[in-house]
Amino acid sequence: MIRVARDSGRVEIRVVNLREFTDDPHRSIDDYPYGGGPGMILKVEPVARALESLPPPLRDRREVVLLTPQGARLDQTMVRRLVDVGDVVLAFGRYKGLDERIRSLATREISIGDYILSGGEPAAVVLVDALARLVPGVLGDLDSALSDSFETGILDSGYYTRPEVYRGMRVPRTLLTGDHARILRHRREEALLRTLRRRPDLLSGASLTREEIVWLQAKGWTPPPGAKSPGGESEDKTAGRPRRVKVQARRDKDE
Ligand code: ADE
Repeated sequence: MIRVARDSGRVEIRVVNLREFTDDPHRSIDDYPYGGGPGMILKVEPVARALESLPPPLRDRREVVLLTPQGARLDQTMVRRLVDVGDVVLAFGRYKGLDERIRSLATREISIGDYILSGGEPAAVVLVDALARLVPGVLGDLDSALSDSFETGILDSGYYTRPEVYRGMRVPRTLLTGDHARILRHRREEALLRTLRRRPDLLSGASLTREEIVWLQAKGWTPPPGAKSPGGESEDKTAGRPRRVKVQARRDKDE
């Protein structure tokens, strides 16, 4: 995917070798920690010089992301924001740690999950992949990307292809009807139900119609404590689409 993105000319990826920004004969980018302790620490100067060597930011905007298990946990909303910026620098170490002053060079710190990798490279690949596939024109089918799990705030429904029956397991009949509106409704319900069963935590931040909230409650969902009640106002169906409301816990009791 990353190669396809690069080949399309819509994504440019440049790799900078920090060793080129060292000034000692051994070209060392790490050193022993002050105060002692195990492992080597990534030095601040090579990172600072490497950043200073970069061309000016695209459209005057640049994010310098430090990949570290201590960063904010990566999610699709963050990926979308970074794609919008368009100019993203990823910085990471391969060592026990990094000089604390490197943090001052970054605009944000991101972790790809609550586990420790031996280096930032796999985290960088994960982030580059997630970013590249959202760059317009990179994925053949943008619609497909937009219906992905998380992109809609909930998990995506299941999909099927031939055969119609496999070892007794049937494709849901609705999908064979050719009735587009019914199929869309079926997929939405499947997605909601799947999210309720697998990741109910996502529902509390999802964009749902009042009808969907009531439907989910009938399936056993309890909105988070303090969430706005779906009752009350009538549904706004202007432009033919029910208005979606964000299910959100109230920040204070007067809200
Ligand atoms: N470097 C080491 N572990 C990491 C993680 N979980 N996320 C981002 N960078 C890392």
